[in-house]
Amino acid sequence: MAKTVGIGITGGIAAYKMADLVSKLTKDNLDVVVAMTEAATKFIAPLTFRTLTGREVITDLWAEPQEYKVKHVGIAEQLDILVIAPATANFIAKMAHGLADDFLSTLLVANTAPLLVVPSMNTNMLENPIVKSNIRILEDCGYHVMDPASGLLAVGTIGKGRLPDIEEIYKEIHQILNTTPN
Ligand SMILES: Cc1cc2nc3c(=O)[nH]c(=O)nc-3n(C[C@H](O)[C@H](O)[C@H](O)COP(=O)(O)O)c2cc1C
Repeated sequence: MAKTVGIGITGGIAAYKMADLVSKLTKDNLDVVVAMTEAATKFIAPLTFRTLTGREVITDLWAEPQEYKVKHVGIAEQLDILVIAPATANFIAKMAHGLADDFLSTLLVANTAPLLVVPSMNTNMLENPIVKSNIRILEDCGYHVMDPASGLLAVGTIGKGRLPDIEEIYKEIHQILNTTPN
């Protein structure tokens, strides 16, 4: 049976890169479910992921469920992995402290599958002691946290904070799932 990959997209500039990742995963015959924060929808349209996955993209905790089951619980039970990429400083703070005030953060609290977090933000945000401490909390919980890459950032500066290459994230997902990329 195909494994189910949950992709949670938060509101960072790198959100547009997730179309490439989702496209690659669907070609591996994985079942891909995308959820986006409201901020993420400002960077890339849910329609892109709806088209790539052939599935509804969830953005709203309060939308009328199509199935009987409460949606965040129903989806959490189906997942073999949940990936949060890009993970904003804001969302990392919410994850580190168990906040559940939108669909994606509520799904995360209900999730029992392995969790892969891919932080991406500008260097000053990444070096902020509170952000660093929140990332440490996630690592201490046993979650997989990828190290951001260094290079030219969207703001035009050079430093650490870039989303790692999509290929790296793709390989990490397959490694955690114990599956083989196509
Ligand atoms: C143009 C623009 C680019 C942004 N890029 C990032 C980013 O790369 N990383 C980040 O942590 N926050 C970034 N932010 C800030 C987040 O969008 C903001 O904190 C938002 O509340 C995040 O919401 P979410 O975590 O629910 O998705 C950016 C904001 C703007 C306006």
